[in-house]
Amino acid sequence: MIAGADKHQDLILTALPVVFYAAAPDERLYRPWVSQNSARITGFTPEAFASDPGLWVSRLHPDDRERVLAEFLKLPPDGACTVEYRWLMADQTYRWFLDTAVFTRESGAGDRRLAGLWMDVTKRKAAEAELEASRAELERSREELRALAGKLLTVQDEERRRISRDLHDDVSQRLAVIGLELEAVYGSLRSSSSPFKRQLRAIHKQVVRLSDDLRHLAYQFHQTIVEDLGLVVALQRYVNDFVRRTGVKARFIKRRVPEFLAQDVATCLYRVAQESLGNVAAHAKASHVTLELIGSDDEIRLTVRDSGVGMDVEAVRQRSRGLGLLSMTERVRLLNGSVELRSRPGQGTEVSVRLPLTMDQP
Ligand SMILES: Nc1ncnc2c1ncn2[C@@H]1O[C@H](COP(=O)(O)OP(=O)(O)OP(=O)(O)O)[C@@H](O)[C@H]1O
Ligand SMILES: [Mg+2]
Repeated sequence: MIAGADKHQDLILTALPVVFYAAAPDERLYRPWVSQNSARITGFTPEAFASDPGLWVSRLHPDDRERVLAEFLKLPPDGACTVEYRWLMADQTYRWFLDTAVFTRESGAGDRRLAGLWMDVTKRKAAEAELEASRAELERSREELRALAGKLLTVQDEERRRISRDLHDDVSQRLAVIGLELEAVYGSLRSSSSPFKRQLRAIHKQVVRLSDDLRHLAYQFHQTIVEDLGLVVALQRYVNDFVRRTGVKARFIKRRVPEFLAQDVATCLYRVAQESLGNVAAHAKASHVTLELIGSDDEIRLTVRDSGVGMDVEAVRQRSRGLGLLSMTERVRLLNGSVELRSRPGQGTEVSVRLPLTMDQP
């Protein structure tokens, strides 16, 4: 034996929370030889293990016992195994042990023996449990946030629907009546060049413009437009309107769009187009924009690509206070879809959304 090896062995046995053991194969772990440090680590001396064949098994945690014994029973003659379990110490507290065992041949002898170690891993287990708990907590709050985001989007949709209805059915009608009355007053004025008449005409024009803007606003908020006209027609109208308002050239390409789209899918794509075109108008300074609506067997994809100033996507993700891209992403996620945002400063922007086509089509 190398000089000093005993010293090293002693050092290992005193410093590490590891007990070494050996047992005859037929006895498996009944009546094992254990290293001297077992008293410090388990509270039981090597003599206690040697004299009580049931000691190790009897102190396995009831919830772990069956699993651990099964693991040892199925150990083949030249196999190895590693299991973890709780074990009741002499002080009646449970601690976690990692048990690694191998079958090995004693030098000189023909017999195989089981050799192994018990390592106290209670601290690691506690840390793992803590990590697991915080992971579960994180997942729970993420779920709550998702539910909240979903609810907010629904509330937003309902609110938009209400505002749209009020604007359209009430405010816009009343404005139309005012317009008609102004027109009547204008018509009844005799003198054709009085400044009053000119002023009246200007007011009338403003009322007509206001009424147009209001109708546009109501139209923008209106959700049933997709339900009433279908996605393709609704989008085409929206694009036409966008071109008229902004002067940006637009192309709308559609291919293999399913005839029947689930309502939530259609509405979601319409909203994505609205948000994206809204962003093109507000931020892109683009000369043209292309919308592509393309279906396949199991999904539908909407891409909005502009030729504008682009952006630094990471910087926007971290710093933007806007809600457009966020709510778009959330809407799409609620329908199990995905959003891709590709852009670089000076290189235009592309928003691409994929939604799976669901089975329950109308
Ligand atoms: N097509 C685009 N071209 C250039 N920049 C864009 C484009 N779309 C979005 N951005 C940038 O990304 C930011 C975030 O967009 P987002 O739609 O989330 O918010 P917003 O438009 O600023 O505000 P909101 O949509 O809530 O009115 C914008 O402020 C803009 O800087
Ligand atoms: Mg926006």
